[in-house]
Amino acid sequence: MTATQPSPTAAGSGANASAAFRASTARRGAASTGQERADRLIRRTLEAVHEVIREEELTYPEFQAVKRWLMEVGESGEWPLFLDVFVEHEVEAVAAKAQHGTLGTIEGPYYLPDQQRLPAVATLPMRADEKGDRLVFSGQVRDLDGNPLPGAEIDFWQADADGYYSGFAPHLPEGNLRGVIVSGDEGRFAITTIKPAPYQIPTDGPTGKMITAAGWHPWRPAHLHLMVRAGGHRQVTTQLYFAGGEWLDSDVASATKDELVLTPDRQDDGSYAAKYDFVLESA
Ligand code: DHB
Ligand code: FE
Repeated sequence: MTATQPSPTAAGSGANASAAFRASTARRGAASTGQERADRLIRRTLEAVHEVIREEELTYPEFQAVKRWLMEVGESGEWPLFLDVFVEHEVEAVAAKAQHGTLGTIEGPYYLPDQQRLPAVATLPMRADEKGDRLVFSGQVRDLDGNPLPGAEIDFWQADADGYYSGFAPHLPEGNLRGVIVSGDEGRFAITTIKPAPYQIPTDGPTGKMITAAGWHPWRPAHLHLMVRAGGHRQVTTQLYFAGGEWLDSDVASATKDELVLTPDRQDDGSYAAKYDFVLESA
């Protein structure tokens, strides 16, 4: 990243991620749970915490440090980021047990609805001087029986070549590297974009501080985000990664799956081409 770009702060992206999450629960409808299940889930969560305290003999200074840190996560709006990195993958794995078709993975905090609708063969909205290797990502959307699904929506978002998402970094134009591509005849699509960079969790906020305190690294491998939907079928929320990419084997968000790794081919003009077909199960 160059010195002329303002660096998106943890507090900035955290606040935006909180607002995006509130809007999404308003849109999707927040589910609630009955008293019996609430009792069980809350009690078991607290019991798990108590067990760590007992077994590790947590001290008062350590308890105060945790309290201060939890307050900071809330104040900086980083709960969506923290939970999507360290917890969502487990929720997704539970959901995946009952699913068929293309594998899903975590949604993460940076989805924004209502992006520009684009035809089956399209270039994502990007800056005139958008940095990064050109990538043509193409494929087909089918049902479990192999029937093509024309008119399917591929709701697509990704980071830029510096690892930043539009809508969560003030220096990026709205809608940059986002779009809803509608599959054509035979369910096919071809999206021209750029290869994203690995993503780094903001290091200046409490999540970053926690990672540093524990001596971990803050990186996710480069990835594309997608929601694929078609009438009468279950929507798949997933990500695609790049073979050989850095951090593929140590994603801080534990959200990679072997089946979700693209192997892009380098073309004569220096660009890359990658193919992936999506398979949706009936709703
Ligand atoms: C986070 C960011 C991502 O780009 C992603 O895919 C998952 C999680 C995060 O910062 O929480
Ligand atoms: Fe992401």
